[in-house]
Amino acid sequence: MMDLKGCIFDLDGVIVDTARYHYLAWRRLANELGFDFSEEQNEALKGVSRMASLDILLAAGNIEKDDEEKILLATRKNNWYVDYITQMNPSEILPGSIDLLLKLRKEGILIAVGSASKNAGVILDRIGLTGLFDAVIDGYSVTRAKPNPEVFLKGAEQLGLNPVNCIVFEDAVAGVKAAHAAGMKCVGIGEQENLSEAEIIVPNLAGITIEQLRKL
Ligand code: G6P
Ligand code: MG
Repeated sequence: MMDLKGCIFDLDGVIVDTARYHYLAWRRLANELGFDFSEEQNEALKGVSRMASLDILLAAGNIEKDDEEKILLATRKNNWYVDYITQMNPSEILPGSIDLLLKLRKEGILIAVGSASKNAGVILDRIGLTGLFDAVIDGYSVTRAKPNPEVFLKGAEQLGLNPVNCIVFEDAVAGVKAAHAAGMKCVGIGEQENLSEAEIIVPNLAGITIEQLRKL
């Protein structure tokens, strides 16, 4: 049994399916550059910062660009992505999310967002969840991207908690690694084949019980 005091949620692909929008925008960029980019290749981008994602994408297309061009390309991708997310509404919150967040709060367990995204604030606004969380760590608050544990360590710190009392919820391989590097247990959201390092793997947040989490 763990003494569960805090839960830190990745945003993209855990609370909302923005991972889909990231993929569509990256694939569009790849297509413009003359190559295709599969969903399988996209797994490596999940949880990874914008510029690091671009580097992985360019390597997949065997393309080299200088820093100035890279900034332009990342901006193009982000503009398409922002077009998607500014049209989001609360119906896009993934199944079980609100229910679990409210249950945790009711139990006095603190909740935080731990995202690599600089768009996390916009997304939380669009889906109406700003203010529900005790802390929000986003792409502006961290300098080292997942799998570095900085985002989750900052989350625990802002909640005023010891990392061993926190559980992370992640859909990205890099995120599961970051959670473990922070000394936290991790619930993987998605496919077993991608997330086998997580302590438990579920398709979404629906049906997760606090009792189950305390047993981790
Ligand atoms: C999240 C997503 C990544 C994305 C990163 C940066 O971690 O999983 O796919 O690249 O955030 O997002 P941003 O919105 O700042 O480009
Ligand atoms: Mg994610």
